Amino acid sequence: MPALQELKDKYKWISSFSSALELLHWDMETHMPKKGGKWRAEIIGVLSEFIQSQQTSGEMGKLIYEAEKEAKSDIDKALVRVAKRDYERARRVPPELWGKFALETAKAQRVWEEAREKSDFSLFAPQLEKVVDIVKEIAERVGYEKNRYDALLDYFEPGLTVEDLDNIIPKLQEFLTGVLERIERSEKPKDVFIGEFDLEKQRELSRRVLEVIGYDFDAGRIDRSAHPFTITISHGDIRVTTRYDVHDLKYSFFSTVHEGGHALYEQGIPEDMRGLPIGDGASMGIHESQSRFWENIVARSHSFWKFFKPVLEEYFEVFKGVSSEDLWRSSNIVERSLIRTESDEVTYNLHIMIRYEIEKSLINDEMKVSDIPQMWNKLMEKYMGITPLNDKEGALQDIHWSHGSFGYFPSYMMGNLYAAQIYDALKRDVDFSSVVELGDFEEILSWLREKIHAKGRVLEPKQLLENVTGESLNVEHFMGYIREKFSKVYEIEF
Ligand code: CO
Repeated sequence: MPALQELKDKYKWISSFSSALELLHWDMETHMPKKGGKWRAEIIGVLSEFIQSQQTSGEMGKLIYEAEKEAKSDIDKALVRVAKRDYERARRVPPELWGKFALETAKAQRVWEEAREKSDFSLFAPQLEKVVDIVKEIAERVGYEKNRYDALLDYFEPGLTVEDLDNIIPKLQEFLTGVLERIERSEKPKDVFIGEFDLEKQRELSRRVLEVIGYDFDAGRIDRSAHPFTITISHGDIRVTTRYDVHDLKYSFFSTVHEGGHALYEQGIPEDMRGLPIGDGASMGIHESQSRFWENIVARSHSFWKFFKPVLEEYFEVFKGVSSEDLWRSSNIVERSLIRTESDEVTYNLHIMIRYEIEKSLINDEMKVSDIPQMWNKLMEKYMGITPLNDKEGALQDIHWSHGSFGYFPSYMMGNLYAAQIYDALKRDVDFSSVVELGDFEEILSWLREKIHAKGRVLEPKQLLENVTGESLNVEHFMGYIREKFSKVYEIEF
């Protein structure tokens, strides 16, 4: 058998185990009884290790290099390129170090939970120090050109560097803090999403909005979990979860649409790519661009609420007395905030910048783990103008560091920037506000399908963005989007 075919078969074989693993994960977060937790973690650990060992075996390496000689079509060449990248990166880190990483991060999660409960960073610091040391070693093994942190960014956003980020962040920060100051001087809209909302009705509404934007319920389902997520079990089975708050309808509504955006991306990845390394999203940032696009650009637009208000009334009569304008303004309340996950489109990227500065310094030995809370408060004051009262609403709020996921946060920011740039490109082909006002999302979805979803992981994010929008990353699109939207929401001029 030709090596290329053998390679594809092998990947599809491995992906059967990954499917089983994902199903176990999904079940763990949604339905598993509490006492199953300990054993489930064991089973997941064994399966993960097995998959990792298959993906990084010497036999796999041989197959990839042989297949490289046979690859002729663009898609096969992309497959081999992506496979080689993943393989070589993984092989540069010895299995013992991955083992240590898994062990210490598992411990760190437990310690983080306790420290967060007690709101005391010093309880978390010694364990986090161990994790940071391992992550630094991984970065050294993986390698980089200019900055050690680049090795980590590259995991989540291939090709993204400290140089790229340092080029855009100061300008973006100045712009956003300026917008925030202007908005603060205007009157804050009343939040019409606050009240008493039956949970069963909220559940039905979540299904409805997903259907409306084009999510295929024959190829997925929605459940409840503590933290919303999207998970791909296999082709034809892309699931989402959400969370509910009886007093705040925004809480479930926008996280459902957010996960819906991730799921539409996954449902649009071609069947013949599935199971192969190219059968995935292009990067974390591109994935996040799709979720943010549906959550913020579509569902927080005035056009959307003109269309959706009558639908909303079917579920909650209380909205009969509310205008589409009020719904739209309530979706776009901006305020200085301490918690990233509760922040709005203006402040979100400022939250990311704080984490980025800290991670970059830590990984480059310019700062000690024990100095994080102090640095956090300093940056919070500088970017947001407020200081957390305790570690729980400060440096302990995110789970990412206990997972060892350094380099992940910037992909959230990239998602926001990509989404706005993609939006400007889409508007050249699609009459956005008209189709949204009609609730006709098909045109938007097929545009995204053709330009982004159908490409899987064939292109690197930089190349994909250039193909879709005709230019490389340009923050003007995001800044223009913010300016236009919030000048209308708050009736001010920038
Ligand atoms: Co997301």
